[in-house]
Amino acid sequence: MSDAHPGVRKVVLAYSGGLDTSVAVRWMIEHWGVEVVALAVDVGQSPGADTAAWETIRHRALAAGAVAAEVVDGREELAAGFVARAVKANARYEGRYPLVSSLSRPLIARHLVAAARRHGADAVAHGCTGKGNDQVRFEVSLRALAPDLRILAPVRDWGLTRADAIRLAGQWAIPITASLEVPYSIDENLAGRAIECGAIEDPWAAPPAEIWERTAEVADAPAPSEVVLGFERGVPTTLDGDPVALHELLPRLDRIAGAYGVGRIDMIENRRVGIKSREVYECPGMLTLIDAHSDLEALTLERDVMHEKQRLEGRWADLVYDGLWYSPLREALDAFMEETQRHVTGEVRVRLEPGRAAVVGRRAPRGLYDYALATYEADDAFRHADAAGFVRLWGLSVETWARRQRREEPAVPEPGERP
Ligand code: ARG
Repeated sequence: MSDAHPGVRKVVLAYSGGLDTSVAVRWMIEHWGVEVVALAVDVGQSPGADTAAWETIRHRALAAGAVAAEVVDGREELAAGFVARAVKANARYEGRYPLVSSLSRPLIARHLVAAARRHGADAVAHGCTGKGNDQVRFEVSLRALAPDLRILAPVRDWGLTRADAIRLAGQWAIPITASLEVPYSIDENLAGRAIECGAIEDPWAAPPAEIWERTAEVADAPAPSEVVLGFERGVPTTLDGDPVALHELLPRLDRIAGAYGVGRIDMIENRRVGIKSREVYECPGMLTLIDAHSDLEALTLERDVMHEKQRLEGRWADLVYDGLWYSPLREALDAFMEETQRHVTGEVRVRLEPGRAAVVGRRAPRGLYDYALATYEADDAFRHADAAGFVRLWGLSVETWARRQRREEPAVPEPGERP
């Protein structure tokens, strides 16, 4: 039983295999006297990672002293339950960041709770610091899902520097690979890769070339090419006509678009905890999907629905960014989003060029584009005579106001006269 946390005997830790969570396993055992179960969730963080890589991570947790170490494959669930909704909502926090980390935390929280029940644990733990958003997302999610579980945050409590953590890992013989000693804090999943700390903490410093993994330099891009993305009710379902599940499509599209240097984001971001931070992301697949999806919406959504949806998309992104995945407003907004997607079915042609992915064509069985109404050619079916009366009534109130109340405009200068 723990002195620091009375009543806590066994803890399930959200384990990434990284330096902090590895040291946290042993640190909680040493300082809090608890048993630790390490739970790693595969959310697609290393697209090339195979079973062997996850076995290495499992063994690292056991070497650190965990009584059990488990890996669960959360990729399909992340794609279908979280990323697909983000695509439907065209979600980009502050207009730019497609929510990568914000989408995985509520999923990992769900698995933490399930593991805590399986192992009879009284608490769950995460390895977040006190300065970030991820602690907010974990804890708010956990409190919504399992208010009876205690939440521990060793990394927030311990006050160790990165160098301290590396030293402790050595002292406790926890097998840390050289890659864990890089100065960056990296979080990744199917939707993209987030890079923080190190040299990029200086907002004036350009991101060093070494940080990129999913995107090539634009100068190294191959010759232009095209892909066709198919959507069904707002969800991406095909690539060049072939059916592909979203959790497989994302890494494929990452490779395709990433090769052109598409998908890098470098921004100053407002964290929930009040800090402005310099964030660098690479999300080639996710950004290409969102661009294609919103283009297909422009073809299939009625105007008022589309405009109202655009207003709510920002709200959706804010909520999810702020850790409120499990909230009544997110659910209500998703009910609205879902309703809007009924006819967002069709295909989008995307042309890949060095540094950009541009939509160059779209088609939908229930698209609202009506050639006979839009054309300026001979087969025009638009009733031109209706336009004159419509425009006159549209401007009628302004015309009346102008006649009765509008202030005099300064005279238009004569040609050649200085204003
Ligand atoms: N700023 C981003 C967010 O709040 C990325 C967080 C990345 N997390 C990390 N542990 N490096 O979603």
